[in-house]
Amino acid sequence: MTKRKNDMKKIYKAKVNRIERVSASSHFIEIECEIPVKVEAGQFISIYCDGLTLRRPFSVYSNNNGRIGVLFKERGKGTQYIKSLKVGDFIDIAGPFGNTFDIQNKKALLIGAGIGAAPMAYLKEKLDEKGIKNYYAAGFLTKDEVPAGMKIDKICTDDGSFGDAGSVLNYLGVLINEHKPEVIYACGPHIVLKIVAEQGEKYGIETQVAMEKVMACGIGVCRGCVIDIKKDGKIVNATVCKDGPVFKGSEVVWEN
Ligand SMILES: Cc1cc2nc3c(=O)[nH]c(=O)nc-3n(C[C@H](O)[C@H](O)[C@H](O)COP(=O)(O)OP(=O)(O)OC[C@H]3O[C@@H](n4cnc5c(N)ncnc54)[C@H](O)[C@@H]3O)c2cc1C
Ligand code: FES
Repeated sequence: MTKRKNDMKKIYKAKVNRIERVSASSHFIEIECEIPVKVEAGQFISIYCDGLTLRRPFSVYSNNNGRIGVLFKERGKGTQYIKSLKVGDFIDIAGPFGNTFDIQNKKALLIGAGIGAAPMAYLKEKLDEKGIKNYYAAGFLTKDEVPAGMKIDKICTDDGSFGDAGSVLNYLGVLINEHKPEVIYACGPHIVLKIVAEQGEKYGIETQVAMEKVMACGIGVCRGCVIDIKKDGKIVNATVCKDGPVFKGSEVVWEN
């Protein structure tokens, strides 16, 4: 995966430009930083949420001339605070953090699931900009969960209320045979990433997965987000926030 040199803590004051509901359970927020911030696909920013000690991490969904977009799902106090923001409010963000998807000139299959669809949409945009052939399939629980305005080639819903019925993983083999990807990128729940990594190994295709772990410091200090990875025949620790969040599917030691 690609590491960024300027992976140091940077804090910006940012103005809320847009905030709107885009599905039954998710909102889009667009913020404008005091200076334009460059963010690569796969990286995340951390948002300071009023009254909470720990910043909350969110993958970047869009970046239009320095206006950073995030798609978020309400979970607890932090996301409730973000949801309560109004256009014109100022917030405090840190980042961008983490490594990036390694974009290569290889035919790509993108798999997103749930809120993990957001960083994949940003990756798709980057691949399109570079003219790299790609196909993006994303899965959601139901029609109401499909975010409005997201560019996706194939939508699946678990209950069959929109697009193709069933989990996006049910179509993985078909998509591989049809599109013959040379690399598969994925973001979503742990089980989705694990299955994508296994299928990649089965078909001999490189996989890159964006992992998620509950984070505290977000900058590689507290070791709260450690996972096991395989390196040079050994099992070693890696932090999702600093060494990741993107890992090769083949190097992750997958928990059940
Ligand atoms: C690298 C990274 C990228 C992320 N990108 C996005 C994104 O693009 N959009 C988005 O909506 N969320 C994303 N998340 C998750 C997001 O950080 C959490 O939803 C948020 O921190 C919750 O804060 P809260 O205060 O609202 O909830 P909390 O009060 O902190 O938690 C409420 C409940 O949610 C659970 N929870 C909190 N964080 C996570 C998590 N990471 N995974 C599973 N359960 C969790 C808690 O255990 C608790 O049960 C990302 C997380 C990481 C690590
Ligand atoms: S959250 Fe502290 S090391 Fe990753």
